[in-house]
Order: sequence, then structure tokens, then C-alpha cells
Amino acid sequence: MYPGLEGVEVKESEICFIDLENSKIWYRGYDLEELAQYSTYEETVYLLLYGRLPTVGELGEFSKKLAAHRRLPSHVYDLVTNAPKSGEPIDVLRTAVSAMALGEDLSDKSPEAELSRGVKILASMPLAVAVFHRARDGQSAITPEGAESHAEYYLWALRGERPTARETRAMDVMFIIYAEHSMNNSAFTAVTVSSTLADMYAAITAAIASLKGPLHGGANVDAARMLEEINRIGNVEKWVDSQLAAGRRIPGFGHRIYKRGPDPRLRVLKSLAGDLAAERGDYKWLEIAQRLEEYVGSKLSQKGIYPNTDLYAAVIFKYLQLPVDMNLPTFAIARAAGWVAHVVEYRRANRLIRPTERYRGPARLRYVPLSQRETPTASVG
Ligand SMILES: CC(C)(COP(=O)(O)OP(=O)(O)OC[C@H]1O[C@@H](n2cnc3c(N)ncnc32)[C@H](O)[C@@H]1OP(=O)(O)O)[C@@H](O)C(=O)NCCC(=O)NCCS
Repeated sequence: MYPGLEGVEVKESEICFIDLENSKIWYRGYDLEELAQYSTYEETVYLLLYGRLPTVGELGEFSKKLAAHRRLPSHVYDLVTNAPKSGEPIDVLRTAVSAMALGEDLSDKSPEAELSRGVKILASMPLAVAVFHRARDGQSAITPEGAESHAEYYLWALRGERPTARETRAMDVMFIIYAEHSMNNSAFTAVTVSSTLADMYAAITAAIASLKGPLHGGANVDAARMLEEINRIGNVEKWVDSQLAAGRRIPGFGHRIYKRGPDPRLRVLKSLAGDLAAERGDYKWLEIAQRLEEYVGSKLSQKGIYPNTDLYAAVIFKYLQLPVDMNLPTFAIARAAGWVAHVVEYRRANRLIRPTERYRGPARLRYVPLSQRETPTASVG
């Protein structure tokens, strides 16, 4: 038995290697920290999807393809615009991706067909999120024609005005860092759904549903809410003590695979958070996160609990002035690359995922007619 499937290898993959010994992450053999420093999200997506870095011409073609797919079918546009304002943006995004399948010819089940569906979905996710966000604020949608990158397009479509080059680059780095992370819960969900030969829309819809949970991507919203609740560096200890005393978990801490040291992605995120704090002359969120790291570490590092990416992602998104509930769809927009890569890779040698379980329930009971059943002493439900 493997509770939580901990340590179980479910497939062979050439997409992402997490080297715990050396605290490194490699996307298709390339150091993620180098990609975050020198690459762009578009280039990284190309690498994840097609297995190698693109040439100048290939990158240009791919960027054009993404730009061409940055639109929503009219029924999806209407659905997103008219969604209840109180809806969570991640739920709206999940519903939008599901609705994108309607009217599409889904009969071709080849990896190539799923890949082109994946590129289409990935390209249109920022617009779905931005249209909903602006509609709930009573603002009309913006489609930034002049946007030069996925990151710029997203921030521009959300805010209605062009972001600075620095903000765009910060979002680009976040997209690269969040793009892929091996067989996490949402990637496994996408692959599991796709292993039935369900289409890419179904797989990504399911992956977004998985990402939502607070033990997975939802932690980046909870971490931002925690920063807001704490609000002053002097409140950190009191806040943490009260959470632990109530038996609650601290968002942005702990990870299924990083139990012997921190997540390697933190090096990039901490440095980016530091740069943004310095540029803005506002160290408040960074300092709260740093104090949290010290204090939670002093209490929980003996259990193998270290900060995870969501703590510093929350800080970075604060400096980028993202509304807190946008943190999660932002993660989904970036991670779509990894989901598509895993689904396509698995489809190439597909085998239905169908595990088993150990039965522990009662045996050989005899059916009792309804009229003869007695009320049990403890009722169910
Ligand atoms: C991510 C997470 C689900 C990993 O869980 P896991 O590998 O199943 O770890 P476990 O649930 O076995 O936890 C091991 C111990 O650490 C504790 N723990 C784990 N994360 C904790 C946290 N964030 N705060 C406080 N305690 C935590 C558990 O309560 C458990 O304690 P116990 O042994 O005394 O019962 C877990 O760390 C968590 O809930 N973190 C907070 C949410 C979060 O940030 N998620 C994003 C992950 S990238």
C-alpha cells in the first residue's frame, strides 16, 4: 500500500527531472534556473512540448500561433462575461476550458491532434481569466493586439493598460518557474483522464480542478491571504502560534517531495521577490515571508517542513498587484504547458490507468428485506 501514492512511479518521462541530491530541476535536460534567467515562457513551452529548444524561425512561428489562438469562441466569451461576479476565477477558468470543447471535432485521438488542442487551450487561457476579471469589475474586455509575449498579454488584458517591461519579465519568470513540475497531482490527473482516450479539453479541465485544492495550487491564494492577515512583521509569531495551536497547516510550507531541504525553485523566486521589493521600495511582504520562513522553520523543520514556491509566489504576485484570487488561475495558465506535455507524452504509448485497492469492508452479508430491517443504533449520515 502506498498512501497518497507516495514514491510510486507511474510512467517514464523525458519532460522534467527533479534532482533532490543536488537540489536542481531540469526541463528536458536544461537547468530551470538558466531557463528562468535567459529564456522566455514561449521558448520554455516550445521546449516542453516539442522536446528541444526552438530555432529563431520556429520560435517566431510558435509565438504567432499562440497569438492567433488568443481568442475565445463566442459561447465561451458569453459564459465568462456572464458568470456570477462572486465566482472564483479558477472555477470560471475550469468551466471555460470545458466549454471550449463544445462544437469541436474531437474524433482524432492522435498525440498530434491533442497537442494542437493543447496549444489552443494554453493560448486562450489568459484571455478567459482576464475577461472574467474585468467583467466582474464592470469593465469591458481588452484584447491587447500589440502584446509581445504571453506574460505581457496576460497582464495587459487583466489591467487594461500595458505593463512595464520589468513587470512583464517578472511574470514571464513566474510562468517559466510554474510551467512544469513532474508528476504532481494535477499532471497525474490530466494523464489519468487522458489515458481513457478522453480529449485534451477533458484532461485540462480535470487538471485545473485538481490544482484548485489548498494542498496543491490553492496554497498560493491561501499564502497571499496569510500575508494580508499577518500584515505586520511583528504579528508573524502570534499568527503562526495560533494556527499551529488550532491544528491548522501553514500555507506555503511543506511539500511531498522536498522533505530534506527546500524546493530548488525558491532560489529564483527569492531573488525575484527581492528585486521587486527593491524596485518598489516596499519590503513589507518580503520581510513578512522571510520572518515566516525563519519562525515556521524553527518550529517545523525537524518534520521536514520548508517553505514551498507558493510562499514567495504570493509575495511576487503582491508586488505585481494581482488580485489575490488571480494567483491560482495565473498558476494554471503557466502549468498548462506541463499538463499538455505530459498528456501528449503518455498518449504516444497509452495504457489505461486503472489501479486497484485493498478491500476492507464486510463480507458475505445476506440481503434483509426493507420491511424487516431494524433501525441501527448509530445512523449513517
Ligand atoms: C503539501 C503537503 C500536502 C504535503 O503533505 P504530505 O507530504 O502528505 O505531508 P504530511 O501530511 O505527511 O505531513 C507530515 C507532517 O508535517 C505536518 N505538516 C505538513 N505541512 C505542514 C504545514 N504546512 N504546516 C504545518 N504542519 C505541516 C503534518 O501535519 C504532519 O505532521 P505529523 O507528522 O505531526 O502528523 C503539506 O505539506 C501541506 O498541507 N502544506 C500546506 C499547503 C501547501 O502549501 N501546499 C502547496 C504544496 S506545493
